[in-house]
Amino acid sequence: MTEPATTTRHGDAIPARPSVVPGAGPARRPGERTTLRLRETGEGPGEPPRYAPEWLALREPADAAARSHDLLDPLRIRLADLPRRAGGLVVHDIGCGTGSMGRWLAPHLDGAQHWVLHDRDPYLLHFAAVGSPRSAADGSRVTVETRRGDVARLTPEALAGASLVTASALLDVLTREEVGALAAACAGAGCPALLTLSVAGRVELTAPHPMDREITEAFNAHQRREGLLGPDAVAVAAEAFGEHGATVRLNPSPWRLGPGQAALTEQWLRGWVGAAVEERPALAERADRYLAERLAACAAGELRVVVHHSDLLALCRPVGGAA
Ligand SMILES: C[S@@+](CC[C@H](N)C(=O)[O-])C[C@H]1O[C@@H](n2cnc3c(N)ncnc32)[C@H](O)[C@@H]1O
Repeated sequence: MTEPATTTRHGDAIPARPSVVPGAGPARRPGERTTLRLRETGEGPGEPPRYAPEWLALREPADAAARSHDLLDPLRIRLADLPRRAGGLVVHDIGCGTGSMGRWLAPHLDGAQHWVLHDRDPYLLHFAAVGSPRSAADGSRVTVETRRGDVARLTPEALAGASLVTASALLDVLTREEVGALAAACAGAGCPALLTLSVAGRVELTAPHPMDREITEAFNAHQRREGLLGPDAVAVAAEAFGEHGATVRLNPSPWRLGPGQAALTEQWLRGWVGAAVEERPALAERADRYLAERLAACAAGELRVVVHHSDLLALCRPVGGAA
């Protein structure tokens, strides 16, 4: 993330809206994936997947309900130990998407805050700037700036002066090298990191079905494609931060989806099954029947799903008065 910062101010025009297919799960079939082509034209092979703002908006309430509050107290204690600064806390949110993490965390922390929102997708950064949080827990002012860049190029210098690094639903779509770069940058800057909502690779559906396990295994294999960490992300991140001398704490942060979250559950199901079939095409016929059954139960308000995630707090060793 060492590219020159592109700062987006409130009121900037959002670029013309590209065609967006709402959906869930990183499958390739149109309409059945989390990672979506936002721009059907101009996206070449090998270009990174883009996330639909509609999908991020759909999951935001479930994400907010799921993130672990137990990690906030140790984080607050660390932040309270920082030298007081006129501008307050400086928080870097990596892979911010439309800024859901800031909207959740800023109102849980006291004092003025300046959020630096990083993403490689400039389209999402516009949404993040426009929808930024305005006030802290105690009513203090919250300001934001956006920076376009890739986590693979994040450096301690880019985090100079940071009080905290955050991320949400990011680690599992990174490679080992990218997570290593993130841990090295945080450790080099001496700032703590709160990295929430990494998939754990486990789901529970009620009522259980004989295909649940097969779909789960195929989905997890899909998540691990092309060197991405998928359900291994939290263990790899804990190890990477640990190697830099950080104290690491983990807490579960499951989505608990019931009739009140039917729209999210439907999109998640489509994406989850779609990705499994993309990984194991032999599943297609049975998976279609399975999906139809699950969608019918969802529409009838009879389906409950727990999608397990983990939150990670890494307390890096402070360096040179920075943090
Ligand atoms: C699943 S979305 C989560 C967005 C947001 N944090 C949230 O919780 O709603 C993952 C985000 O990470 C960004 N991203 C993925 N890989 C990245 C990378 N290597 N560098 C920077 N951003 C990345 C994507 O553009 C996307 O906005």
